[in-house]
Amino acid sequence: MNQPIRSLEARYYTDPGVFAQECEGVLARTWQFACHGGSIGKPGEYTTFEIAGESIFAIRGRDGKVRAFYNVCQHRAHQLVQGAGRTKLITCPYHAWTYDWEGKMKGGPNIRAVAGFDTSDVCLTEVRTEEFLGFIFVNLDEDAEPMEFWYPNARAQLEEWVPNYKHIRPLEWVEIPERCNWKVSVENYSECYHCMLNHHTFSTGVVQPATYDIQPQGYCLRHTTECQNLDKMTYEIHSGFKHWDEYSSWFLWPMFSFQVYPGNVLNTYHWRAINADNVVVWRGWYSVGGEESAAVRKLALQDRETTVEEDIRLVESVYRGLKSRGYRPGPLVVDPACGVNSEHSILSLQRWMREAVDGPCASEPRTRSGARRADSSDFTKRRRT
Ligand code: FES
Ligand SMILES: [Fe+2]
Repeated sequence: MNQPIRSLEARYYTDPGVFAQECEGVLARTWQFACHGGSIGKPGEYTTFEIAGESIFAIRGRDGKVRAFYNVCQHRAHQLVQGAGRTKLITCPYHAWTYDWEGKMKGGPNIRAVAGFDTSDVCLTEVRTEEFLGFIFVNLDEDAEPMEFWYPNARAQLEEWVPNYKHIRPLEWVEIPERCNWKVSVENYSECYHCMLNHHTFSTGVVQPATYDIQPQGYCLRHTTECQNLDKMTYEIHSGFKHWDEYSSWFLWPMFSFQVYPGNVLNTYHWRAINADNVVVWRGWYSVGGEESAAVRKLALQDRETTVEEDIRLVESVYRGLKSRGYRPGPLVVDPACGVNSEHSILSLQRWMREAVDGPCASEPRTRSGARRADSSDFTKRRRT
């Protein structure tokens, strides 16, 4: 007889050794959010961020393209830039070697005294970047497959759901520290089995639980649902675009999600793992041109006071439980018909989490970078009629 599939063992979440392995491995080999392209809109504008323990900076070039580099001087390894700003040349604070926006060395004090020194031999170490809906993502794996491979069709779908994506800019970032492992928070985001009991506003005022489902789309988990009671929402919902009366989200493994509220309002989740025991979730809210918007502010506040607050209590309790000697991993509730009360999405997620630590299952087809070939046949959607 088939046995139910059990949840991951607690050590995957609580063991600092597993976290160290993830920093070296999965976080350095997957697409990671860097910044919104609008925050470095002009040539020479840059911003720094951290990926898998590495300091990286992204800078817009003369050609309008955003490039990302390891934040390390190619002379004797001093850090080049901090925070964000605009610069004509990147000048290292240690001995003033300079680099242009494309990472090429331009000069340095007294280098002509060195016979055979050719500045064209020196350039910053570039990191793979992709612009996705105006957001900049980086991947420390030089051989990484493009985002379209990892998250098939997500870009085209989002362009339809967020028709003004070329004009939106960040308006507000809400920072939410959670005392739990990042995977606990990501799992909580990726199932709605807990919604009816814990998210009254969300499940009675936004989504129609009977129509909620989450399906894998490559390494993306796509949430879809019809909406209800839109007239009770605290913000004015514009109905001018296709999908205006829907809610949908695209979780991009491992740490980012695009979410669209009714009225085509885009917002994002970015999980930033601090260590095995702590994660900070950055909720991003956007408006056209980054201009003040009472509707977006209201929605951000409503979200913070309801769903976010409710989830903090859940994930922190789960993490305390995972540290208990009394916990034995329980069976996942995987309904072959999928739907809101099924944890089939957790099954996908935990497989990716397990692979990230133990390596991929030998029988699975592989890409040149070693990733399991993405497919959408993980779960055949069989709705009850
Ligand atoms: S380390 Fe950067 S100029 Fe020397
Ligand atoms: Fe939740």
